[in-house]
Amino acid sequence: MQELSERVAVITGGAGGIGRAMAERFAAEGTKLVLADIEEAVLDETVDQLRSKGASVVGVPTDVADVAQVESLAARALSEFGGVHIVANNAGVGGGPVIGTPLAVWEWVFGVNVWGVVNGCNTFLPILLEQNEGHIINTASLAGLGGVPGLGTYCASKFAVVGLSESLHHELSMLGSAVRVSVLCPGFVRTRIHESDRNMPADVAAVADTPGALLMADLAKAAVEAGISVDVVAEAVYSAVVEERFYVLTHQQAATGTTEARIAWMVDGQPPVMDLEAVTKPL
Ligand SMILES: NC(=O)c1ccc[n+]([C@@H]2O[C@H](COP(=O)([O-])OP(=O)(O)OC[C@H]3O[C@@H](n4cnc5c(N)ncnc54)[C@H](O)[C@@H]3O)[C@@H](O)[C@H]2O)c1
Repeated sequence: MQELSERVAVITGGAGGIGRAMAERFAAEGTKLVLADIEEAVLDETVDQLRSKGASVVGVPTDVADVAQVESLAARALSEFGGVHIVANNAGVGGGPVIGTPLAVWEWVFGVNVWGVVNGCNTFLPILLEQNEGHIINTASLAGLGGVPGLGTYCASKFAVVGLSESLHHELSMLGSAVRVSVLCPGFVRTRIHESDRNMPADVAAVADTPGALLMADLAKAAVEAGISVDVVAEAVYSAVVEERFYVLTHQQAATGTTEARIAWMVDGQPPVMDLEAVTKPL
């Protein structure tokens, strides 16, 4: 999609972090924005700030894990702006290790990171297919390209997003559709992702061991704080829409290194090797 002015973008997790940066980048092109987020107060603040800079934007409090709320989000986008052209299924939360993470936490992580993307695709694809125009951007992660110790729930959810997005690309190609899909796989980015438990429902938090267990708190905090700026990610997403790129990599060396190494392990039947330094090093 070359021309983004007067188009409408729906961005989940749009109140903060990467989602908000995407909103600012698209707003700079004159794109109308529908921001969805579970954090209502932050969402209101973000909408006010974008409006004060001249953006056409509405905020819709939404839990992406709940399909009824995502359907209401689509209805609101259509009633407010009369169409939807870009859908960023971006809301996401961190998770813990495979060993010891309670099932309720797995369900919460998959509810947001996987079902959030499924709900977004299932709800918005019919609209985009009908008009034979549009671009879906699903936020995965480098953690969707290689397993990371301590982040098994998160990695599993992000692998799902990569697989879903690759499959969707094939399906759109086979249909001859002009609708495009991209999958965003960043390494560490300076956001509040390491504090995801702030949005954990109380009944899940009650059984989660300690908030600190999420995302190997110390390592993740240091890595996130040393990460790249959200603006770099937003620029990469904008280019992907305009240039119709599928994989959106902000840490290209780490992404290709992981993938090339995996081929060697697969051919040799060897277990994967973890290079923690490479994963935490901002590139
Ligand atoms: N920051 C990183 O290092 C990094 C790296 C790779 C991928 N990602 C992915 O980027 C995406 C954005 O995360 P971020 O880094 O900006 O973190 P963030 O915590 O700053 O932003 C996430 C946003 O999602 C919202 N959210 C959480 N649960 C929600 C729900 N159930 N429904 C709707 N909104 C919800 C939060 O309120 C927040 O505004 C996520 O999918 C994350 O997994 C982040």
